Amino acid sequence: MAPTTPPERATPDQRVPEQVAVPGRPDLLPIIPAPPELDRDTEAMQSKAPFCGLGFARGRLAPQLHQRILESFRANAGRFRPEPDIPWMGSTEPATIPALFFEDRALNAEVSQALKPQHEAWSGMALTESACYGIRVYQRGTYLYNHVDRTDTHIISSTICVDHQLDTPWPLYIEDVDGGVHQVDMAPGEFLFYEGARLRHGRPYPLDGNYHAGMFVHYRPVDLAALAANMKPDTMKQSAVEPEGSPR
Ligand SMILES: [Fe+2]
Repeated sequence: MAPTTPPERATPDQRVPEQVAVPGRPDLLPIIPAPPELDRDTEAMQSKAPFCGLGFARGRLAPQLHQRILESFRANAGRFRPEPDIPWMGSTEPATIPALFFEDRALNAEVSQALKPQHEAWSGMALTESACYGIRVYQRGTYLYNHVDRTDTHIISSTICVDHQLDTPWPLYIEDVDGGVHQVDMAPGEFLFYEGARLRHGRPYPLDGNYHAGMFVHYRPVDLAALAANMKPDTMKQSAVEPEGSPR
C-alpha cells in the first residue's frame, strides 16, 4: 500500500551533533563535519526527495546469497582498483587509498533482483530496480561525510555489509524521519533498509581497522509520480513507521 500524505509538521532541525556515542567504542566519537557546500546540496536534495515516512530498518541476507557475494569478493580480490574521487569521501591516511572497487555485473544483477521482494515488503510499494553498486572496499582512515543519495532514483535503498576487519565499530550514522541521530553497526551479512534520498547518512569518522566491504542497492517506486504528488516541502520530521526489528 502506498504511504498516505503526511500531515504538516514543523521544519526539521538540520544540525548535526559534534560527537556521538558508538556502542563498542570507549569514548564519544567526533563527527567530521561535511563541507558547507555539501551540506547545502544535502538540504536542497532532501527538500525535493519524495516522502515515504519509512525511515530505516535492519535486514539480513539469505545465507546462500551472502555466501555467493563473499565468493565473488574473494575470487576477485586481486582485481580491485582505486575508486575515483567521490565528493563525500575522505581519509585521514594520506598514504592509503580511501576506497577500492570491483564490479561483478552478474553478481550485482543477481543481488538487485534477489533483494527486491524484501524492499517491496518493507516499503509497501511495487519497486523498480535503479542500481546495484559495489563491491566497494573502504580502507583504514576512510570517512564518509553525511549526505543523501540521488533524488530521482535512490528512493528505497540498502547498504549491505559484505565483510569487514575492524579494530572498533565503524557504524552508519543515519538520521531518522524525526531528525534523531542513530549509529547502526552491522555484521557481515546484515544490511540496512533506508530512504537514501531523504535521510542524511554517512560514516563521518575514520575507519579503524583493515577494511569494510560493502554493496549498495537502490530502487524507486513504480508509481513515483503518485508518491511525489503526496510530497510537501516541510515534512521532513514525521513519525517513523518502524517495522519489526527496526533499530532504536
Ligand atoms: Fe549514500
